[in-house]
Amino acid sequence: MYNSYDEIADIIDVFAGHTGPSQSRWLFDLVKQMSNDAWVCEVGTNYGRLSAAMALASVGSNRRVVTVDHMIGGYCERKAEDGINIYEQVIDGMIWTGAWEKIVPLPIKSLQAHEFILTMKRKLALVYLDGDHSYDNVLAEMISFGDLIEIGGIICGDDCFTAQIQHHWPIKFLEALETLPDAELTLFATTSFDPTGMDRQELLLTLVKVHMNQNISSPEYSFLEAWPDSDRFRKHPVKTVADAIFSFFYENSNYEAVEAPGNQFAFRKISEG
Ligand SMILES: C[S@@+](CC[C@H](N)C(=O)[O-])C[C@H]1O[C@@H](n2cnc3c(N)ncnc32)[C@H](O)[C@@H]1O
Repeated sequence: MYNSYDEIADIIDVFAGHTGPSQSRWLFDLVKQMSNDAWVCEVGTNYGRLSAAMALASVGSNRRVVTVDHMIGGYCERKAEDGINIYEQVIDGMIWTGAWEKIVPLPIKSLQAHEFILTMKRKLALVYLDGDHSYDNVLAEMISFGDLIEIGGIICGDDCFTAQIQHHWPIKFLEALETLPDAELTLFATTSFDPTGMDRQELLLTLVKVHMNQNISSPEYSFLEAWPDSDRFRKHPVKTVADAIFSFFYENSNYEAVEAPGNQFAFRKISEG
């Protein structure tokens, strides 16, 4: 049994992937807090980085990790075209970690996996979405996998901070901007709009508003790197994901936002719709 992420960090670092230690540590800790019989799920296994972290958090319990990837790529990989047999790599990787017995691998599309899990009558304590990032697909996954989440369970995923907008980032962004002198603010503003005649407060608020839905990982935002929690801003949000998450959760009283690392979204189910 592993009690802390630090004990498995070296194992997880061996896995290739599109996520980093902030996500794997976060998911490990979340799974460790779950009941002994919890089933959790990752959509978009890729090479299995995050599923491995969740599987290692399940060693010594009855927890299981359903890991879903049609294994032909899309969004972040071109596996089918490149002829990579990722399914074998995932299995070998999980065996190597010693947590293969915790893994329920489903090498099918996410919505087919949903049908399968529904047929099993299996409720999930956590679902992490990181597969096909198109708006329609993410929204369909939110609706279908949301139905599988038990009350108190979490639906979360990658490549979006828009969902956290009301809770975190405009305020943090405003705080970061407030540290800049007027001259730099104006310079920054001219890349997006004409700041002539605006007082400082109006300028600040306009900057936040204008940049709410934009990718702020571009060089013009490099000043944010000096800011302690800047990681949140240097990651790439994917607009389609952000829009889908926003449409699903905005004013959705069945879920409440949960604190999440940079560029992640997380919501806890508090009632059935
Ligand atoms: C962004 S990568 C996932 C990265 C991974 N979570 C990690 O931590 O490294 C997206 C993955 O989703 C898979 N994928 C794309 N569309 C999918 C779909 N409709 N159903 C299941 N998996 C899909 C791709 O094969 C790819 O491996």
